[in-house]
Amino acid sequence: MIRCFLSIILFLVSTTFFVSHVTGSDVSVGKECFRKGELITAKFDNITGTGIWIGLYPKNRVSDFTNLPGFAEGYLSSWVLSCGTRDNCIWWPQRGEVHFPTDELDYGDYVVVVSGDRAGLDAQAHTETFTVGTNCFDITIPTMDRWIAPGDNDQRSPCPFVNALSNHGFLNRNGTFVDLLDMADKMELIYNVDAGFLRDGPIQLAIDCNQTYEDESGNIRIDIDRLFDDNCEEHEASMFRADSFFGFNKSKQTDDTLLNNLIRINPSSDVLNIEDIMGYQADRIMESRLRNPETEFRDFDIDNMGAQGVFLFLLSSDPTLTTVEKDRLYFFLLMERLPSDFLPGSLRDTPFNPKDETDFIHDKLMQSMANVEIMMHTPIDEVANLSLAGVTLSRHGGA
Ligand SMILES: *[C@@H]1O[C@H](CO)[C@@H](O)[C@H](O)[C@H]1NC(C)=O
Ligand SMILES: *[C@@H]1O[C@H](CO)[C@@H](O)[C@H](O)[C@H]1NC(C)=O
Ligand SMILES: *[C@@H]1O[C@H](CO)[C@@H](O)[C@H](O)[C@H]1NC(C)=O
Ligand SMILES: *[C@@H]1O[C@H](CO)[C@@H](O)[C@H](O)[C@H]1NC(C)=O
Ligand SMILES: *[C@@H]1O[C@H](CO)[C@@H](O)[C@H](O)[C@H]1NC(C)=O
Repeated sequence: MIRCFLSIILFLVSTTFFVSHVTGSDVSVGKECFRKGELITAKFDNITGTGIWIGLYPKNRVSDFTNLPGFAEGYLSSWVLSCGTRDNCIWWPQRGEVHFPTDELDYGDYVVVVSGDRAGLDAQAHTETFTVGTNCFDITIPTMDRWIAPGDNDQRSPCPFVNALSNHGFLNRNGTFVDLLDMADKMELIYNVDAGFLRDGPIQLAIDCNQTYEDESGNIRIDIDRLFDDNCEEHEASMFRADSFFGFNKSKQTDDTLLNNLIRINPSSDVLNIEDIMGYQADRIMESRLRNPETEFRDFDIDNMGAQGVFLFLLSSDPTLTTVEKDRLYFFLLMERLPSDFLPGSLRDTPFNPKDETDFIHDKLMQSMANVEIMMHTPIDEVANLSLAGVTLSRHGGA
């Protein structure tokens, strides 16, 4: 929101001071925010002159609309003549529209300008600042109708966040041939978690673990079922799936008992907090270590499992991520379906970035990772004794 207000203020400032604006000529893009993949349509009206080009600049490259940076300076992200080609115009239309793809653009603020007569660098019109961003407010909200349960031949992964994206059609519904970098962008778009964090973390891990492949165009793809391979990330001690040691096929389903136990924590409360989740996760790790002889955790499991605990709060309606509503969590984990009132990106303007130490989610992740690490490394005879003594493991681990 702040960004929107800022751009309106910038717009007011710029239109107030740059009075050499040709009266009546106008260009607009109709929206404050575009997602990658969307086409920017710039409509112009009452344009005068010949040799008119219409260009897209990053906002911070334009300080004076009467003296635009020239082509040679390399700041123009894109341009086209007013007739829509780059070649030549047989006639120079006064009104019309031109299009700019967003796929290759960096995220950030932009303006579209209409050049002066004979390709002049004195803009005769410019748009308000708009954003190419990941959390546009006007994006189409996924509705329940668009959720489709996976079919028998559709692949799903151990991660409910990935699966929900496929169930809602944000990723291939069949779960195969999924563009991995697009997956990071979609995670940012829908769950508001920084795409760069995902690329450096779980996505790089999948690549390193040889769970991905390249298509003919060199895009990195994944068939998401591959994420169940236990040669890499540990899938034991999941909070809502049984260990694969007790049956691989069964471990791919959400386990009703585990899910119910999660929701039953603090029965009188409608929400779970981070201590609840950490306590439950600690229980699960201990249980696996005691009952599953194949459980083996590696260092990167600490990162992944720590993040899994914290990410559940991204479904919350609480911007401080202190609590998450049980009803949201329950249906999300059971059906891998977004809550009906879920507004992508509504918790915060900027994505949550656990790698950024100034972002409060960083501390939450550290806390969650420490919890996981303690539970993984507590000597097993202590674990056994605690268990035999009937001590509630969650109180031990969760504090
Ligand atoms: C274009 O110019 C005409 C005549 O000057 C004016 O009536 C009209 O409002 C202008 N259109 C825009 C979009 O400024
Ligand atoms: C899965 O869906 C994608 C996108 O529609 C398609 O390109 C791919 O061929 C499909 N894979 C299979 C195995 O059908
Ligand atoms: C990577 O996976 C491919 C098939 O998916 C396999 O042919 C190849 O041997 C694997 N490489 C390593 C290093 O595991
Ligand atoms: C697991 O599922 C696969 C595919 O549905 C099947 O071929 C396999 O026999 C199943 N394994 C067990 C142990 O049930
Ligand atoms: C666990 O219990 C056994 C038997 O009571 C005891 O000998 C052992 O010292 C205990 N281990 C720890 C780490 O407390």
